Amino acid sequence: MENDSRRKFLGVCLAGATVAAAAAAGYPVIRYLAPKSGKVGTDKLVFATSDIPDGEAKFFEYAGTSAVLVKTNAGALLALSAVCTHMGCIVQWEKDKQDFLCPCHAGHYSPEGEVLSGPPPKPLAKIPFTVADGKITVG
Ligand code: FES
Repeated sequence: MENDSRRKFLGVCLAGATVAAAAAAGYPVIRYLAPKSGKVGTDKLVFATSDIPDGEAKFFEYAGTSAVLVKTNAGALLALSAVCTHMGCIVQWEKDKQDFLCPCHAGHYSPEGEVLSGPPPKPLAKIPFTVADGKITVG
């Protein structure tokens, strides 16, 4: 009888520890893949043009979600939503391939945000910006 109680107690402890470990391991993954939520402001953001060399991308928070400025190897500058149009994961810039990869289902987008392959149904949303006096103003 005492062994049954001890076995049940250890079982409950083990189950609790397993749930806690799964939550601790899964939370950062979910936070990384999910777009930010919260305030949806339209504040303007200013970056120096020198912040984004040719062929590079700079990710930032804009209007409560993830966005990216990208300058192609040819020097074209674009501001896009970084939220995949398939299921909302955050895309990554592949500098060597000069495209965006969505890590969730391998969707690929061009630097202009057009869908190249995979399940995304629409291009990445464009964000308005202006360039003047060595500054990029987003929004
Ligand atoms: S969420 Fe991006 S390809 Fe599925």
